[in-house]
Amino acid sequence: MIFSRSRASRVPVSAPAGGGEAGAPRHVAIIMDGNGRWAKARHLPRIAGHRAGAEAVRRTLRAASKFGIECVTLYAFSSENWKRPEQEVADLTGLMKQFIRAELDEMHRNNIRLRIIGDHRAFEPEAAAMVDAAVARTAGNDGFTLVVALNYGAQDELARAMRTLGAQVKAGTLDPAEIRPELIAAQLDTADLPPLDLLIRSSGEQRLSNFLLWQAAYAELYFTETLWPDFDEASLAEALASFGQRERRFGGL
Ligand code: FPP
Repeated sequence: MIFSRSRASRVPVSAPAGGGEAGAPRHVAIIMDGNGRWAKARHLPRIAGHRAGAEAVRRTLRAASKFGIECVTLYAFSSENWKRPEQEVADLTGLMKQFIRAELDEMHRNNIRLRIIGDHRAFEPEAAAMVDAAVARTAGNDGFTLVVALNYGAQDELARAMRTLGAQVKAGTLDPAEIRPELIAAQLDTADLPPLDLLIRSSGEQRLSNFLLWQAAYAELYFTETLWPDFDEASLAEALASFGQRERRFGGL
């Protein structure tokens, strides 16, 4: 079970600590890093780290819902992850299918909408079809949005957006002078999502790895040494407390 919040009981709560300028984030994105190192430290195969990572996903979503966050975006598979050994790609695809099988009914009952960013059609047909079905089934839900980045890369997302706008210019339906940030944002996979407030990366690495590059323009960044499989409610609470103390100026004073 990942969520316990029902359709009727969704009451946003504030960040658990801090109370600084920024308050509570609406949209939190997470680079779930460190599964491999977690497994290695235990002399386990990498898949064991990913399995433990999937458990951390469940815990984190439960906590996010409890803390009143509206939308969580998870970097589950990047467009560069295809470089990993075939077996690991298969293992990650298997975990994704397992997650949908185990959680979809519950997600739907709890008014959770599943959204995908990236191009999941690159996955094997059964996995892609399961994702499509899960997205379609939960499309009308409005209690919480779980966004999973699958075969996602921010540069690819921007290139796709530029191609769409370029085609409109070529067709004579768009004047290049009208291309402003809002128009570009409207072409991105995240067009209908709340602005990104907080981006978390686990495992001590401090880079964005081609994740939400446009959307992170004014997001607060939070890096933790915790390996993803160890991430839990307390880890999220710490990130929210840090966010709560940030002063967000969006370029102003
Ligand atoms: C990075 O750790 C993690 C990934 C590439 C995959 C993330 C996938 C999951 C947490 C499991 C399933 C997700 C869902 C949404 C059900 P890494 O392997 O790069 O770790 P390392 O840097 O320590 O090797």
